[in-house]
Amino acid sequence: LGYTRIKSSYQEVETEVTYFVPMEDDLEIWRLEIHNKSSAKMNLKVFSYIEFCLWQALGDQNDLQYIQNIAVTKMQNNIIYYSTFDRKPGFAYFSSSQNITSFDCDREDFIGSYRSEANPLAVENGKCFNSIALGGNPIASTCSSINLEPDEKEIIFFVLGVTDKIERAKEVIKNYHNKAYVDNQFEKLKQSWESYLGNLLVDTPSDKMNLMLNVWNPYQCKVTFDWSRYVSFYETGIGRGIGFRDSSQDSMAISYVLPLQVRQRLLDLARNQFENGNVYHVYFPITKEGGFPDYSKPEMPFFSDDHLWLILATCDYVKQTGDITILDEEVEYVEGSKSNLYNHLEQAIYFTRENLGPNGFPIQGTADWNDTLNLPGPNNAGESVWTAMQYHLALKELSELSDRYKQHQNAQKLFQLAKRMKDHINKFAWDGNWYLRAFTDSGVPVGSSKCEEGQIFLNSQTWAVISDIAPFDRAIESMENVRLHLDTKHGLMLLTPPYTRFYPELGGISTLHPGLKENGSIFCHTNPWAIIAECKLGRGNLAFKYYLQIAPPTRNEIADVHRAEPYIYSQMIAGRDHPKFGMAKNSWLTGTAAWNLKATMEYILGVRPTYEGLVIDPCIPSSWSHFTIIRRFRNAIYDFDIKNPDNVSKGVISIMIDGEKVEGNKIPDFRDEKKHKIIATMG
Ligand code: NOJ
Repeated sequence: LGYTRIKSSYQEVETEVTYFVPMEDDLEIWRLEIHNKSSAKMNLKVFSYIEFCLWQALGDQNDLQYIQNIAVTKMQNNIIYYSTFDRKPGFAYFSSSQNITSFDCDREDFIGSYRSEANPLAVENGKCFNSIALGGNPIASTCSSINLEPDEKEIIFFVLGVTDKIERAKEVIKNYHNKAYVDNQFEKLKQSWESYLGNLLVDTPSDKMNLMLNVWNPYQCKVTFDWSRYVSFYETGIGRGIGFRDSSQDSMAISYVLPLQVRQRLLDLARNQFENGNVYHVYFPITKEGGFPDYSKPEMPFFSDDHLWLILATCDYVKQTGDITILDEEVEYVEGSKSNLYNHLEQAIYFTRENLGPNGFPIQGTADWNDTLNLPGPNNAGESVWTAMQYHLALKELSELSDRYKQHQNAQKLFQLAKRMKDHINKFAWDGNWYLRAFTDSGVPVGSSKCEEGQIFLNSQTWAVISDIAPFDRAIESMENVRLHLDTKHGLMLLTPPYTRFYPELGGISTLHPGLKENGSIFCHTNPWAIIAECKLGRGNLAFKYYLQIAPPTRNEIADVHRAEPYIYSQMIAGRDHPKFGMAKNSWLTGTAAWNLKATMEYILGVRPTYEGLVIDPCIPSSWSHFTIIRRFRNAIYDFDIKNPDNVSKGVISIMIDGEKVEGNKIPDFRDEKKHKIIATMG
């Protein structure tokens, strides 16, 4: 966790290189170990090579000729420094713990004409050319000689860092050329992951679930929390910042372990809200500047759902941490005026209330959760049924929170609004067998059995259950139709049948190839919503089937079909209508991580935070007879032993807390830094 190791072996030379970023400095370490496995002495040359990026990411893309005239890369006292001529960005630097016998700073010199990184001239020559780069393509390459006796090993450290002062680089490098120091830094990194992961330990009959919950799922949640969807293999970090809706959802998974970071993130997000309750779609973490994406509709610069996620994320945070004081925090609106976080949440409700369309559902604006369901048209009147469901949940949640915040009148008002929206959805968005997804600008239903294509959408069925809109019979009927129409061996598809031509009234969704992304792929983010819905309905076998279908250890068994890292979730898996059905894309930065952690912890295993404490309400496969969970909740450790002697899926009949029998399924908030034993029996 937190490092990459590559081993190789060639002509009796074994090498192992470990790359990691230490906790305390802005640099990357390469620890290279070289082992002479032969019975003869060896004289080896070791070359390093990195290519620097060109400081200005946008210029690198659109004005390369300029950028290629501003770099200055030179060797100075055994360290290669790279900056621009005006030194504005500070310095990148590279060093080796070995004596450097030659070096290169210019890519063309190192590689040579008509060659590539596969056969650099310098390596063939056995030494670098001591080139400097004044403009051009800056690199750092070092060459050192090492002599190894039979079976002898040598360790070399390379340091690649950034700094604003050259002197600082020298000090830092001294530390990282020292083996004991580097080993200690590596240990600190390991310990930090161990302590992060140590907040949750499960033992269930499913090895796949154990592996995911004990290691990979929380690991990915930290990565999505830190990086949102911005810098990755798939995003340049220029166009897209921290996504308002993405980061709100990412926060919901990890406040049990990183409460302070989540608190700060929620306040940063709230700073991107306008006085009228609307929010920027993204913000950039370094400058804190907010914005809308290029595809945002200029006449309607808002998304119907973004601002409502702040309510859901804040309520989740308060339930997880008990920290209701976050609502008192004064936060600026984009315009500069200030109000406390509670008022920000109220404004989010206000924005949706003020932007209902002709059919009484939230106006779509640019899109809702589905970034490509744009519903354009001359009336600016496209509406989202799904957002109406999200709005209903936000109203209910904020109503409950308001009661705890002693805003009882407000709580009542919000409760009434929720009731009204629920009735409205059930009256006007029920298609006969399932819930509609949206209305186009001219008022035509989307996601109806009467549609030519896109007849049933997953999200409006799952959220009808998640947000308590569907009465029980409708909930079962719509989720049965999900099973019938959307379930596949690779996961649940977002809709079916996908759009096979462009529909001007739908927009982006019908520009995507059928079976990819929002046009009918298995959009993994939405599968845990189905798990939660099925758990709410008590169907543990089905919920677990949905869990396993997209679980990375399951995908690992068909890695050739899956084609992405088989230990973390991907954004999507190609749907039934694509020839590469089962192929994953956009791994790592996806809301799937957060929602799967929530779905498994809170709904399958059933340990759910409330304002007062925890409830225990599992919904498991009936074949399970026992499982355990040890988790942190606020300031105490809860050690659960859950028995299922009658092999049911749901229902808790008795609980013992620290040896004493208690009624119901609620566990108090102990906040005493102690460990508490809970034995629950299902039946
Ligand atoms: C990925 C985006 O980051 C997310 O915000 C959106 O909800 C999904 N795509 C679906 O469009």
